Amino acid sequence: MTARVQAVRGMNDVLPPETGVWQHVRDCARTVMESYGYGEILLPLVERAELFNRAVGEVTDVVEKEMYVFEDRGGEALALRPEGTAGCVRACIEHGLLHNQQQRFWYFGPMFRYERPQAGRYRQFHQVGVEAYGMAGPDIDVEVIAAGSRFLRRLGFRGLQLHLNSLGTPAVRTAYRQALVDFLQAHAPQLDADSQQRIARNPLRVLDSKVPATQAILADAPSILDYLDTPSRVHFDGLQQGLSDLGIACVVDPRLVRGLDYYTHGVFEWQTTELGAQGTVCAGGRYDGLVEQLGGEPTPAVGFASGVERLVLLLQQQAAAATGALQVYVCGLDAESQRVALRECERVRDALPALQMLVHAGGGSLKSQLRRANASGARYALVLGSREVEDGVVQVKSLRGEREPELVAWRDVAPRLMEYLAAPPVSAEI
Ligand code: HAM
Repeated sequence: MTARVQAVRGMNDVLPPETGVWQHVRDCARTVMESYGYGEILLPLVERAELFNRAVGEVTDVVEKEMYVFEDRGGEALALRPEGTAGCVRACIEHGLLHNQQQRFWYFGPMFRYERPQAGRYRQFHQVGVEAYGMAGPDIDVEVIAAGSRFLRRLGFRGLQLHLNSLGTPAVRTAYRQALVDFLQAHAPQLDADSQQRIARNPLRVLDSKVPATQAILADAPSILDYLDTPSRVHFDGLQQGLSDLGIACVVDPRLVRGLDYYTHGVFEWQTTELGAQGTVCAGGRYDGLVEQLGGEPTPAVGFASGVERLVLLLQQQAAAATGALQVYVCGLDAESQRVALRECERVRDALPALQMLVHAGGGSLKSQLRRANASGARYALVLGSREVEDGVVQVKSLRGEREPELVAWRDVAPRLMEYLAAPPVSAEI
C-alpha cells in the first residue's frame, strides 16, 4: 500500500458535527461584537516576518521559538501570523484608518505557533479577537472587557475568573524591570534554569513560571502595582471602577504579565480551572505604543483574543456534564419496587427537570441491574427492594466510590441528588 500523508502535528481537522459547535462560537462572536458596534475585519494569514519581530518583541517566546518563518520564492522573509493584533495595526496604518478616528474591529481566524501540542494548545489554532483604536481613557478598556464577558456568558460559561493587572507606562515598566532584575539576581541560585536565563533577556516572564520552587521565591518579589506613576494609577483605578460599575468581578493579579511585549496599562485574562494547564480562554489588554512603533501616529489601542479550540473544548465538557452522560440509574428489585420507583422518580423529575435519570425496566437480579448501572456511566444508583418500599426510603449508592451508600426518604432524594451531583465528579477528565 502507498504510504499515507498525515496532517501536520498540532494542526487539526474539524469534522461535522463538531463544525456546528464552531459555527455557534463564531455566530455568538458576531452577534455580540456587532451589538457593541465592532465591524468584522479580514486580514492575511501571512505577513512580513519583520512585522511580528517589531510588534510582538524579538525576545518573546512567540517570536524566538514559535513563529513559522519562511522565505517565499522571491526571497522575502514571511511569517504565518502567530496572532492578530500586529496585522490589524499594520492594516489600519496602511489604509489610513487611524488619523483622528476611532475604530472598533473584530476578527475570527487561524493563528500559528510552533508550540508543544497538548489538549487546548495547538500549532494551528483559531482566535476570536477585538481591537479598538483612538480612545485613551479606561472607558474603552471597560467596554472591551464587558463585550468579552458578554461573549463568554452567551456561550454559557459561568465561573470563569477575570484576572487583571496594570503594566503602566513604558517608564513604569523600565523602573519595575530594574527592581525585578535586582530581586531575581539576588535569588538566582534558587531559581529554575529557565528562569535564570530569562533574568537578563525577559525578566517579567519569570513571573509566569510554573515551577513551584520559583513560585515560592516570587511570593516576595516586588509588585509592579507599587511602581505605578500617577497617570498609570489613575488609569488603572478608572478601569477597576468601570468594571465594578458594570458588576464585572475581577481578581487583581500583580504577576499577570502576558507573553507579548506590546502591552501598556491594563492587561487581563479570563481563566478556568477546567482545562488543565491551558486554562486561559481569553486574554488581552492595552497597547498604546504599538501603532507608533509600527510607523503610524501615536494612537491608543486596546483589545483581546480568545482561543476558539479552548472554548469548544469547554463547551463540549459542559455539554457532557449537562446532557451527554447519564447521571442516575434506578434499580427496582421486584415488581412492586419497580412500580414505586416509576412513580417516585416522576416526582424527582418534576423537582429536577435537567436530571438525566434512567429507570431500569425488565427486572433481573440486583447484580445484573447494578452491572447495567455501572456500564451506563451514571454517577449514582437509586436501589430499592421490598424493605425500602415498606420504609418509604431508597438507597442512594455512588457508582464511583465517592461516598458510602445511604438510605434516603423519597422526599429528600431530589435535594440530595442535586447536592451530590453539583460536586465535581472524582474522575473529571482533562
Ligand atoms: P495571547 O495571550 O497570545 O494574546 O493569545 C490569546 C488567546 O489565544 C489565549 O488566551 C488562548 O486562549 C489562545 N491561544 C494562544 N495560543 C494558543 C495555542 N497554541 N493553542 C490554542 N489556543 C491558543 C494574543 O494573541 C493577543 N493578540 C491578544 C490581544 C488582542 N491583545 C490585544 N488585542
